[in-house]
Amino acid sequence: MATVHMVVNGREVSGEVEGRTLLSDFLRNGLKLTGTHIGCDTSQCGACVVHVNGKAIKSCTMFALEASDSTVTTIEGMANEDGSLGIVQQAFQDHHGLQCGFCTPGMVMSAAALLSENLTPGEAEIRDYLEGNICRCTGYQNIVKAIQGAAEELAA
Ligand code: FES
Ligand code: FES
Repeated sequence: MATVHMVVNGREVSGEVEGRTLLSDFLRNGLKLTGTHIGCDTSQCGACVVHVNGKAIKSCTMFALEASDSTVTTIEGMANEDGSLGIVQQAFQDHHGLQCGFCTPGMVMSAAALLSENLTPGEAEIRDYLEGNICRCTGYQNIVKAIQGAAEELAA
């Protein structure tokens, strides 16, 4: 066992992990941040995307130990301080960018990472960026609209 330290959603945390503990498992089981979903555990689906030092990462592909001393943001950290939905989350709701919602945490985290790099992404750029995020419900069209809506809100 080893001790990891990181800042998660603005809060300093630490915990004991095994060398093989995945970041996704540490977030869900160690910190009870169950908004990060695990759809495959094999880097296929993107449900587990979080930000590590500002970059979108599939948290099932990283050991918790590798993320030690990093700054991590999960879907819980995308909400406003008063607990209301943040801009990207709200855009998914407003534009019906989810149905069952299983993929949504990863979609929102990937979308936020894209918008942090590019506030005016075209449809093709959005679809390219979401290549690693699989949704079995929506057909993606409303996810694209949600991200375009979030971009407009953020630009305003
Ligand atoms: S759970 Fe990580 S990519 Fe599917
Ligand atoms: S909303 Fe169901 S998997 Fe995307």
